[in-house]
Amino acid sequence: MEDINLTAKTAGLKIVDKLTQTQDLTDEELKVLLLCEDEQVIQYMAQQARAVREKYYGKDVYLRGLIEFSNYCKNDCFYCGIRCGNTRAERYRLSDEQILDCADQGYDLGFRTIVLQGGEDPYYTDERMVPIVRAIRERHPDCAITLSLGERERESYQRLFDAGADRYLLRHETADKEHYEKLHPAKMSFEHRMQCLRDLRDIGYQVGCGMMIGSPYQTVDHLIKDLRFMQSFKPQMVGTGPFIPHKDTQFAHEQAGSTEMTLRILSIVRLLLPDVLLPATTALGTVDPMGREKGILAGANVVMPNLSPTGVRGKYLLYDNKICTGDEAAECIRCMQLRVSKVGYQVVTSRGDHISYEG
Ligand code: SAM
Ligand code: FES
Repeated sequence: MEDINLTAKTAGLKIVDKLTQTQDLTDEELKVLLLCEDEQVIQYMAQQARAVREKYYGKDVYLRGLIEFSNYCKNDCFYCGIRCGNTRAERYRLSDEQILDCADQGYDLGFRTIVLQGGEDPYYTDERMVPIVRAIRERHPDCAITLSLGERERESYQRLFDAGADRYLLRHETADKEHYEKLHPAKMSFEHRMQCLRDLRDIGYQVGCGMMIGSPYQTVDHLIKDLRFMQSFKPQMVGTGPFIPHKDTQFAHEQAGSTEMTLRILSIVRLLLPDVLLPATTALGTVDPMGREKGILAGANVVMPNLSPTGVRGKYLLYDNKICTGDEAAECIRCMQLRVSKVGYQVVTSRGDHISYEG
């Protein structure tokens, strides 16, 4: 038995070395890493992931100030607490002034990336959204503007880009069409989501895709497909965190994704896409009080503290028990600085562009 374990360990360590050196593995090798139970192999993978991130980005951890400006959504994603079918969600929309105030406050606190995220709220036509983006661009020319508004048409993405947006986060959610259809209602389309990602990239955005870890029906083969998709799409950012059930969804009684699998995926993504911008997500900090620190130690290099007014924080609930819903933005930033420095890294206030976009 001991011999078998030793052989598995040696094989696992070799696979990690191959991944580090070639940024590629066969499906079988990826599967070995995804199913590996040897703590030493997993720790070695995290260590290699840290070395790679430090080669490209040093010890810096980039800050993104998140403004959750609307929790209205026309979609009904089965996993999401703010889906339109959840009649118990208390809906809100920030005014333009509130959004701009949050951005100003973030700027004064040192944020140089502002992320505007919301449900797919039909209120935000291009006529309403473009002036908001333009105003932030004019007030803070040295800030990156990231949008996370879900699926729109190419012309709309182009108008927002022309108004000054630089980056766009749109998780692909799963690269497997059948799995996608188990997580979304029939009127949502896997092909359209993928088309949106291609449009965003063609327009010139720095693009982020990603998936939840441990979402209902997810298998190891789905995760391999997600990793393959990332390898071919080559996103500048990957947003990936654990699925966490929300009490008012049909997945209320499903299990949350694990910290361990999320960390493992973070390390694999770092090794497959060495220069990717990779957040340690709030969801990871929700399933594990030290989740974001562990994420950084697994290869992540971005954190996204909340800039939304405290009065609405508790309403943007995608999943149960979300952390940081009561803290002021200034407190969030101090807390992140402390957490990051405790694990040997430093929060920096630069824009934190992908290295291929730096001037
Ligand atoms: N509407 C935009 C969109 O569709 O991209 C942005 C908001 S959406 C709520 C942001 C992300 O939250 C989704 O891409 C999804 O991966 C994640 N999310 C939603 N429900 C979640 C849950 N129950 N657990 C963890 N993450 C969740
Ligand atoms: Fe639209 Fe979640 S269903 S943001």
